[in-house]
Amino acid sequence: MKKIAVLTSGGDAPGMNAALRAVVRYALYKGLDVYGVERGYTGLINGDISRFNSRSVSDIINRGGTMLKTSRCPEFITEEGRRSAYETLSAYGITGLVVIGGDGSFRGANALASEFDVKVAGIPGTIDNDLNYTDYTLGFDTAVNTAVSAINNLRDTMGSHDRVSMLEVMGRGCGDIALYAGIAGGAEYVIIPEVPYDLDGICRDIKSSQKRGKTSNMIILAEGAGNKDEIVAQIKEKTGVSVKTTTLGHIQRGGSPTQFDRVLAARMAVKAVDLLCSEAESSLIGIRHNEITADPISVALAMPKRFDEELYSIAHILSL
Ligand code: ADP
Ligand code: F6P
Repeated sequence: MKKIAVLTSGGDAPGMNAALRAVVRYALYKGLDVYGVERGYTGLINGDISRFNSRSVSDIINRGGTMLKTSRCPEFITEEGRRSAYETLSAYGITGLVVIGGDGSFRGANALASEFDVKVAGIPGTIDNDLNYTDYTLGFDTAVNTAVSAINNLRDTMGSHDRVSMLEVMGRGCGDIALYAGIAGGAEYVIIPEVPYDLDGICRDIKSSQKRGKTSNMIILAEGAGNKDEIVAQIKEKTGVSVKTTTLGHIQRGGSPTQFDRVLAARMAVKAVDLLCSEAESSLIGIRHNEITADPISVALAMPKRFDEELYSIAHILSL
């Protein structure tokens, strides 16, 4: 393996830049030529590719987003699109590709690697933490910290006015951002897609906590778990309490990555480049029990959904 390329694909996440920097610098350290591809698979198809040196990735470790930019690329879902992408790689003599992205990007990477003579190493970059083969994805820790900071601010004002507040956070079909932020922010309720919510229970608790003199409550809602407006309308109907709602939105997808995401990015990048230099097949890099892992892409993508029931029950117990 002499020449490798690196791209970011799908939704951006804090820590993607730190991973890109580490891939480039570790590859150079190993004596490889390394190329950066702009705008994910779109750039690969269009030939937006250039040779990187150590300076190409200066001053990005602290930045959210991705300096390579990213894209969703419908063309890559077709074999013809992937052939064009492969032609770009082959024109440069590139035989290894690091893909920093999420689930969809890795399905694309798997197809590319099985159809053409290119080896792929995938680094999980998404705030959602929704990849089953890894305990953490890049960007998740930063997004949770952003959500906790929002909760802290909301607590100040909601507590001052004896209000009930609902903060909606992202996560697509995964409740991890809501669960971790809820525990770290001391929320009373966490509503996540993995567990059907008990509206009557929530209403009962709001009423009984008010009787106990607790006049302010914080509900964290994962975006995939229910409709915010419908839930607050139902709470109003059953309790008479008006809930103030906030949607954190894309604010949680940006921002300077935490040390956790930066160190994870460095560890995963080193494993990804080592994998490309080895005899191992195309794989996804992850972390389980603090060990950096590499699993064949189809094996990693087929791992069953994990859900930390113990953590969910801790969130509930501590809110009582
Ligand atoms: P993420 O990687 O964050 O999950 P997407 O699901 O949007 O983001 O996927 C990113 C890109 O990966 C898509 O725009 C497409 O180019 C490619 N992709 C997704 N799914 C597939 C698939 N089944 N086959 C080939 N390419 C895919
Ligand atoms: O996958 C990251 C994510 O931010 C999800 O949490 C969210 O559902 C989605 O992307 C939003 O996508 P877009 O930025 O395209 O609106």
